[in-house]
Amino acid sequence: MKYGYFDNDNREYVITRPDVPAPWTNYLGTEKFCTVISHNAGGYSFYNSPEYNRVTKFRPNASFDRPGHYVYLRDDETGDYWSISWQPVAKSLDEASYEIRHGLSYSKFKCEYNGITASKTLFVPKGEDAEVWDVVIKNDSDKPRTISAFSFVEFSFSHIESDNQNHQMSLYSAGTSYEDGVIECDLYYNTNEFEGFYYLASTFDPDSYDGQRDSFLGLYRDESNPIAVEQGKCSNTAQTCYNHCGSLHKQFVIQPGEEVRFVYILGLGKGNGAKLRAKYQNLENVDAAFAGIKAHWDERCAKFQVKSPNEGLDTMLNTWTLYQAETCVVWSRFASFIEVGGRTGLGYRDTAQDAMAVPHSNPEMTKKRLIDLLRGQVKAGYGLHLFDPDWFDPEKANIEPSKSPTVVPTPSDEDKIHGIEDTCSDDHLWLVPTICRYVMETGETDFFNEIIPFADGGEATVYDHMKAALDFTAEHVGRTGIAKGLRADWNDCLNLGGGESSMVAFLHYWAITEFIDLAKFLGKDEDIARYADMAGGVQNACEKHLWDEDGGWYIRGITKHGDKVGTNEQTEGKVHLESNTWAVVSGAVTQERGEKAMNAVDEYLYSDYGLHLNAPSFATPNDDIGFVTRVYQGVKENGAIFSHPNPWAWVAEAKLGRGDQAMKFYDALNPYNQNDMIEKRITEPYSYVQFIMGRDHQDHGRANHPWLTGTSGWAYIAATNFILGVRLSFDGLIIDPCIPTDWPGFDVTRQWRGATYNINVVNPNHVSKGITSITLNGETVDGAIAPQAEGTINTVTVVMG
Ligand code: IFM
Repeated sequence: MKYGYFDNDNREYVITRPDVPAPWTNYLGTEKFCTVISHNAGGYSFYNSPEYNRVTKFRPNASFDRPGHYVYLRDDETGDYWSISWQPVAKSLDEASYEIRHGLSYSKFKCEYNGITASKTLFVPKGEDAEVWDVVIKNDSDKPRTISAFSFVEFSFSHIESDNQNHQMSLYSAGTSYEDGVIECDLYYNTNEFEGFYYLASTFDPDSYDGQRDSFLGLYRDESNPIAVEQGKCSNTAQTCYNHCGSLHKQFVIQPGEEVRFVYILGLGKGNGAKLRAKYQNLENVDAAFAGIKAHWDERCAKFQVKSPNEGLDTMLNTWTLYQAETCVVWSRFASFIEVGGRTGLGYRDTAQDAMAVPHSNPEMTKKRLIDLLRGQVKAGYGLHLFDPDWFDPEKANIEPSKSPTVVPTPSDEDKIHGIEDTCSDDHLWLVPTICRYVMETGETDFFNEIIPFADGGEATVYDHMKAALDFTAEHVGRTGIAKGLRADWNDCLNLGGGESSMVAFLHYWAITEFIDLAKFLGKDEDIARYADMAGGVQNACEKHLWDEDGGWYIRGITKHGDKVGTNEQTEGKVHLESNTWAVVSGAVTQERGEKAMNAVDEYLYSDYGLHLNAPSFATPNDDIGFVTRVYQGVKENGAIFSHPNPWAWVAEAKLGRGDQAMKFYDALNPYNQNDMIEKRITEPYSYVQFIMGRDHQDHGRANHPWLTGTSGWAYIAATNFILGVRLSFDGLIIDPCIPTDWPGFDVTRQWRGATYNINVVNPNHVSKGITSITLNGETVDGAIAPQAEGTINTVTVVMG
């Protein structure tokens, strides 16, 4: 069943039926002001932190995605009313039609009902801490119509806890006031006139207003039938205490064929409502702000565009996967309809991997995140599993939290810096390839010499931080010489402690080899020798202890009591995706074993919705293995199709040269391919999800937790760098595709350091891998393409064979 389609010309997903089986969301805002909004206009806004500085309220986990950012319309001749988004009034779909366009950082809602066509476009202009609602109401009937418009947002008490607990405090701490088309909402203890100070403004002069939620909604009512809309007038109440809202009402008389256009603005800061109201009364400023958002994304997407025989791949890579990866980098795991803002801070491994995907489209944010991560690394080399960058920001660390409800309190050093017992064995290792990729992209080699403090005191160059990460893992190995599992590795639920993790051993090998490339580039001979030795040791230990001869695959680990996890003898947790993919991705294993391992992945883990994380799922609790054995079967880390490691299988197959397999696995997970089976998938088809129910669960195929998942970053890297094979090295641009044999070729446009490369790959002999020639502007190239002059447009022709 389908609910919409991809409009690639406009980079939009268009929902044509609003009764989708779950809220399908989008992210508005590219800087500090963010709104997570559903196709029904339910959702919430925050500034910087959804935990400490929420602008509007949201009630998660209800069967409705409410409240939201609504515009109600009322026919003042009949009293009939509706909302521009289908919810909350929810007119029958037989009498009203709705269309929702989720675009890049904007959402446009359109409704046709009873001769009135209305739309509202929500977006956050660049450079502003406010959300603009551009509303147009058109009279398509043949008689004049008298239509009232009402806005509605429910203001937050600023902190997520104030919204959800201790109402004794919050109900008496906030107040609204009204003046000249602006409702302002503030907390009485707030000494900050920007953060924690919210407003809703309109470009029209309102006929009535409400700052009190209960006056607007009325007793024993909800957002679907507000008394103010029913009666055609707000109560003109704004005062201290209770719950607060922003409703501004205006009546319009609209002639047949005519339209009215006006704007609501939701934002922060005392006085800013009046300023932006004045600014956006000139509608040209609205158009310019919207064009700014469009240009923002056009510029980013232009860094890598592909035209291939696979439309789903093109649609996702050219628009949605990059957009999702950027969303993860900017908003980390803070805010969605699943993570509703109770967790401020960065997950070390998530951030390091997310940042690996976007150095080309967002180098500033990549660098910022890298510095955040390096500051969250301790001298011993490991990363603080979950931390807030503000703890290590000297300017912010000294702000007294009581001065503002929005300041994140800094914990004591003991609470902030956890020891080995809480350390994850993989976190710090992801830093190495991400830093390398940032420098390959930007050419900023000085970054390696930048001095960055450690979280627990002392400082080192970025280069030495990287060595500390590699050395930590080398020093923390178990009895066979394989890296210890510690609290967890990439798999949060695999808690091997002093036992050993194959995945981390392979990841370590990969990070060391990436570092050796860097050491070669910088001419650090001592380090080349030292880390080549380390890599050799890791490789030997892996080959000796991790191969399961009987099964023909790599085991997942070894418990602290020496039991192997993931052997052919086992009936639960027999084959695992992470160890087998990383064996190949790392480059540590032979082609022969790599192929066998990936054949086992195909045989045991493949399904039409993607690759399972492990199979069969665990049914017997075993605390030596970890919490994974207590998770429901077929769910999350226990035998679901966990999306994030799926792209590792695409990389592995590409490295093995098996392009048909790489594409088979790519296509299975691609949400685009599930657009016509939403009754099964449930969630939005333009976003990868954290996991899809595995075959051991009755909802096999149902996708869960869209948006904030490391899947997008890795899907982007795997498909662009390894399937299409357009990637960077310290020597330059490499083109080394591994494609399905039925592809005659493809085209990529890549922008790199100010130059453009129009790459045409032809595959006359229908191979998967192998290049017979590369030319750059007609000249034969041997190896990598060196960066060309800024502003140049270069033609690259690649013949496979
Ligand atoms: O790798 C983790 C991630 O850090 C958080 N979500 C779950 C993943 C797998 O356990």
